[in-house]
Amino acid sequence: MARILILFAHPALEKSRVHRRLLTRVPADVTVHDLYEAYPDFDVDVAREQALLLAHDLVILQHPFFWYSTPPLIKQWEDLVLEHGWAYGSQGTRLRGKWMMNLLTAGGRAAAYQHEGYNRFTVRELLAPIEQTARLCGVQYLPPYVIHGTHRLDEPQIELQADLYGAFLAALRDDALDLHALAPLSAVDPDNLPLAAAQGAP
Ligand SMILES: Cc1cc2nc3c(=O)[nH]c(=O)nc-3n(C[C@H](O)[C@H](O)[C@H](O)COP(=O)(O)O)c2cc1C
Repeated sequence: MARILILFAHPALEKSRVHRRLLTRVPADVTVHDLYEAYPDFDVDVAREQALLLAHDLVILQHPFFWYSTPPLIKQWEDLVLEHGWAYGSQGTRLRGKWMMNLLTAGGRAAAYQHEGYNRFTVRELLAPIEQTARLCGVQYLPPYVIHGTHRLDEPQIELQADLYGAFLAALRDDALDLHALAPLSAVDPDNLPLAAAQGAP
Protein backbone atom coordinates (compact mmCIF):
# COMPACT_ATOMS: atom_id res chain seq x y z
CA MET A 1 0.00 0.00 0.00
CA ALA A 2 1.41 3.40 -0.99
CA ARG A 3 1.52 6.09 1.66
CA ILE A 4 0.01 9.14 -0.04
CA LEU A 5 0.36 12.73 1.17
CA ILE A 6 -1.91 15.36 -0.36
CA LEU A 7 -0.45 18.83 0.08
CA PHE A 8 -3.61 20.83 -0.48
CA ALA A 9 -3.46 24.53 -1.34
CA HIS A 10 -6.56 26.61 -2.03
CA PRO A 11 -6.48 30.21 -0.77
CA ALA A 12 -10.28 30.59 -0.87
CA LEU A 13 -11.70 27.19 -0.02
CA GLU A 14 -15.00 28.76 1.08
CA LYS A 15 -15.59 29.82 -2.54
CA SER A 16 -14.49 26.52 -4.05
CA ARG A 17 -17.00 24.41 -5.97
CA VAL A 18 -14.74 21.62 -7.15
CA HIS A 19 -11.96 21.05 -4.60
CA ARG A 20 -14.37 21.16 -1.70
CA ARG A 21 -16.28 18.29 -3.27
CA LEU A 22 -13.13 16.37 -4.18
CA LEU A 23 -11.92 16.45 -0.59
CA THR A 24 -15.05 14.61 0.55
CA ARG A 25 -13.84 11.60 -1.48
CA VAL A 26 -10.33 11.18 -0.15
CA PRO A 27 -10.03 7.48 0.72
CA ALA A 28 -9.06 6.22 4.14
CA ASP A 29 -5.32 6.02 4.80
CA VAL A 30 -4.55 8.99 2.52
CA THR A 31 -3.16 12.00 4.42
CA VAL A 32 -4.57 15.44 3.57
CA HIS A 33 -2.52 18.39 4.75
CA ASP A 34 -4.24 21.74 4.14
CA LEU A 35 -1.40 24.22 3.72
CA TYR A 36 -3.50 27.42 3.81
CA GLU A 37 -5.18 26.23 6.99
CA ALA A 38 -1.86 25.32 8.60
CA TYR A 39 0.05 28.40 7.45
CA PRO A 40 -2.27 31.37 6.84
CA ASP A 41 0.75 33.65 7.40
CA PHE A 42 3.03 31.62 5.10
CA ASP A 43 5.14 30.70 8.12
CA VAL A 44 5.86 27.14 7.02
CA ASP A 45 7.13 24.74 9.72
CA VAL A 46 10.04 23.16 7.86
CA ALA A 47 10.70 20.35 10.34
CA ARG A 48 7.02 19.34 10.35
CA GLU A 49 6.87 19.37 6.55
CA GLN A 50 10.05 17.37 6.15
CA ALA A 51 8.81 14.78 8.65
CA LEU A 52 5.56 14.49 6.69
CA LEU A 53 7.47 13.97 3.45
CA LEU A 54 9.62 11.25 4.97
CA ALA A 55 6.52 9.43 6.21
CA HIS A 56 4.99 9.13 2.72
CA ASP A 57 5.90 7.58 -0.65
CA LEU A 58 3.86 9.72 -3.03
CA VAL A 59 3.22 13.46 -2.71
CA ILE A 60 0.28 15.06 -4.49
CA LEU A 61 0.24 18.84 -4.86
CA GLN A 62 -3.50 19.51 -5.09
CA HIS A 63 -4.57 23.04 -6.06
CA PRO A 64 -6.50 25.23 -8.46
CA PHE A 65 -4.50 26.42 -11.48
CA PHE A 66 -3.65 30.09 -10.85
CA TRP A 67 -1.92 31.98 -13.63
CA TYR A 68 -0.66 28.75 -15.19
CA SER A 69 0.89 27.72 -11.91
CA THR A 70 0.16 26.94 -8.26
CA PRO A 71 -1.18 29.26 -5.57
CA PRO A 72 1.77 31.04 -3.93
CA LEU A 73 1.90 29.02 -0.70
CA ILE A 74 3.12 25.98 -2.64
CA LYS A 75 6.04 28.04 -3.93
CA GLN A 76 6.77 29.21 -0.39
CA TRP A 77 6.61 25.59 0.77
CA GLU A 78 9.11 24.55 -1.92
CA ASP A 79 11.47 27.43 -1.12
CA LEU A 80 11.59 26.59 2.57
CA VAL A 81 11.14 22.82 2.81
CA LEU A 82 13.37 21.55 -0.01
CA GLU A 83 16.60 22.46 1.69
CA HIS A 84 20.06 22.02 0.26
CA GLY A 85 21.78 19.09 1.94
CA TRP A 86 18.39 17.55 2.70
CA ALA A 87 16.37 17.45 -0.53
CA TYR A 88 19.16 18.13 -3.06
CA GLY A 89 22.91 18.55 -3.31
CA SER A 90 25.51 15.83 -2.82
CA GLN A 91 24.29 15.12 0.74
CA GLY A 92 20.63 15.84 0.00
CA THR A 93 19.18 12.45 -0.69
CA ARG A 94 16.21 12.20 1.67
CA LEU A 95 13.52 12.31 -0.98
CA ARG A 96 15.11 9.91 -3.44
CA GLY A 97 12.79 7.25 -4.76
CA LYS A 98 9.59 9.05 -3.88
CA TRP A 99 6.94 10.10 -6.40
CA MET A 100 5.27 13.46 -6.92
CA MET A 101 2.47 14.84 -9.06
CA ASN A 102 0.09 17.77 -9.39
CA LEU A 103 -3.64 17.30 -9.15
CA LEU A 104 -5.36 20.47 -10.24
CA THR A 105 -8.51 22.13 -11.43
CA ALA A 106 -8.43 24.62 -14.30
CA GLY A 107 -10.99 27.02 -15.67
CA GLY A 108 -9.65 26.44 -19.18
CA ARG A 109 -10.85 23.53 -21.29
CA ALA A 110 -8.56 20.66 -22.26
CA ALA A 111 -8.51 21.85 -25.89
CA ALA A 112 -7.09 25.21 -24.76
CA TYR A 113 -4.05 23.48 -23.27
CA GLN A 114 -2.63 22.17 -26.55
CA HIS A 115 0.13 23.64 -28.73
CA GLU A 116 -2.43 24.83 -31.25
CA GLY A 117 -4.85 25.91 -28.51
CA TYR A 118 -5.47 29.22 -26.78
CA ASN A 119 -2.92 28.63 -24.01
CA ARG A 120 -0.19 27.30 -26.39
CA PHE A 121 1.31 24.89 -23.87
CA THR A 122 0.12 21.70 -22.24
CA VAL A 123 -0.48 21.76 -18.47
CA ARG A 124 2.47 19.42 -18.00
CA GLU A 125 4.71 21.80 -19.91
CA LEU A 126 3.52 24.74 -17.81
CA LEU A 127 4.39 22.79 -14.67
CA ALA A 128 7.98 22.20 -15.84
CA PRO A 129 9.55 24.02 -12.83
CA ILE A 130 7.87 21.56 -10.47
CA GLU A 131 8.77 18.55 -12.61
CA GLN A 132 12.41 19.63 -12.72
CA THR A 133 12.43 20.43 -8.98
CA ALA A 134 11.23 16.90 -8.32
CA ARG A 135 13.86 15.50 -10.64
CA LEU A 136 16.63 17.49 -8.95
CA CYS A 137 15.55 15.91 -5.65
CA GLY A 138 15.59 12.38 -7.09
CA VAL A 139 11.79 12.27 -7.04
CA GLN A 140 9.96 10.67 -9.95
CA TYR A 141 7.32 12.96 -11.42
CA LEU A 142 3.97 11.73 -12.64
CA PRO A 143 1.82 13.61 -15.17
CA PRO A 144 -0.75 16.05 -13.82
CA TYR A 145 -4.29 14.96 -13.08
CA VAL A 146 -6.34 17.88 -14.41
CA ILE A 147 -10.03 18.64 -14.07
CA HIS A 148 -10.72 21.11 -16.86
CA GLY A 149 -13.45 23.63 -17.56
CA THR A 150 -14.47 24.04 -13.93
CA HIS A 151 -16.72 27.05 -14.58
CA ARG A 152 -18.89 24.97 -16.88
CA LEU A 153 -19.23 21.94 -14.63
CA ASP A 154 -22.74 21.47 -13.25
CA GLU A 155 -23.52 19.59 -10.04
CA PRO A 156 -23.77 16.09 -11.57
CA GLN A 157 -20.53 16.68 -13.47
CA ILE A 158 -18.74 17.77 -10.30
CA GLU A 159 -20.08 14.66 -8.62
CA LEU A 160 -18.74 12.51 -11.45
CA GLN A 161 -15.34 14.19 -11.17
CA ALA A 162 -15.33 13.52 -7.44
CA ASP A 163 -16.06 9.83 -8.09
CA LEU A 164 -13.19 9.59 -10.59
CA TYR A 165 -10.85 11.40 -8.20
CA GLY A 166 -11.70 9.07 -5.33
CA ALA A 167 -11.21 6.00 -7.50
CA PHE A 168 -7.86 7.31 -8.76
CA LEU A 169 -6.56 7.93 -5.25
CA ALA A 170 -7.74 4.51 -4.10
CA ALA A 171 -5.96 2.87 -7.05
CA LEU A 172 -2.76 4.76 -6.25
CA ARG A 173 -3.01 3.81 -2.60
CA ASP A 174 -3.55 0.16 -3.46
CA ASP A 175 -0.55 0.05 -5.84
CA ALA A 176 -3.00 -0.87 -8.60
CA LEU A 177 -1.43 1.47 -11.18
CA ASP A 178 1.70 1.03 -13.26
CA LEU A 179 3.44 4.29 -12.33
CA HIS A 180 6.28 3.74 -14.79
CA ALA A 181 3.74 3.46 -17.62
CA LEU A 182 1.92 6.54 -16.33
CA ALA A 183 5.05 8.72 -15.95
CA PRO A 184 5.69 9.67 -19.61
CA LEU A 185 2.09 10.59 -20.42
CA SER A 186 1.07 14.22 -20.91
CA ALA A 187 -1.73 13.96 -18.36
CA VAL A 188 -3.55 11.35 -16.30
CA ASP A 189 -6.65 10.09 -18.07
CA PRO A 190 -8.83 8.78 -15.22
CA ASP A 191 -10.89 6.75 -17.71
CA ASN A 192 -7.84 4.98 -19.06
CA LEU A 193 -5.39 4.24 -16.27
CA PRO A 194 -2.45 1.88 -16.85
CA LEU A 195 -2.97 -0.97 -14.42
CA ALA A 196 -0.17 -2.75 -12.62
CA ALA A 197 0.27 -6.41 -13.43
CA ALA A 198 -1.75 -8.44 -10.94
CA GLN A 199 0.39 -9.66 -8.06
CA GLY A 200 1.35 -13.27 -8.44
CA ALA A 201 0.51 -13.31 -12.14
CA PRO A 202 2.85 -15.48 -14.21
C1 LIG B 1 -6.25 34.23 -9.45
C2 LIG B 1 -6.80 33.19 -10.38
C3 LIG B 1 -6.02 32.75 -11.43
C4 LIG B 1 -6.50 31.75 -12.29
N1 LIG B 1 -5.69 31.32 -13.30
C5 LIG B 1 -6.11 30.33 -14.13
C6 LIG B 1 -5.27 29.84 -15.17
O1 LIG B 1 -4.13 30.29 -15.36
N2 LIG B 1 -5.73 28.86 -15.95
C7 LIG B 1 -6.98 28.31 -15.79
O2 LIG B 1 -7.34 27.40 -16.55
N3 LIG B 1 -7.81 28.75 -14.78
C8 LIG B 1 -7.40 29.74 -13.96
N4 LIG B 1 -8.21 30.18 -12.94
C9 LIG B 1 -9.49 29.48 -12.69
C10 LIG B 1 -9.35 28.51 -11.52
O3 LIG B 1 -8.35 27.54 -11.78
C11 LIG B 1 -10.67 27.79 -11.23
O4 LIG B 1 -11.60 28.78 -10.84
C12 LIG B 1 -10.54 26.77 -10.11
O5 LIG B 1 -9.68 25.75 -10.49
C13 LIG B 1 -11.90 26.18 -9.75
O6 LIG B 1 -11.76 25.30 -8.64
P1 LIG B 1 -12.59 25.53 -7.28
O7 LIG B 1 -14.06 25.48 -7.65
O8 LIG B 1 -12.21 24.42 -6.38
O9 LIG B 1 -12.17 26.88 -6.77
C14 LIG B 1 -7.78 31.19 -12.09
C15 LIG B 1 -8.57 31.66 -11.01
C16 LIG B 1 -8.08 32.63 -10.18
C17 LIG B 1 -8.95 33.13 -9.04
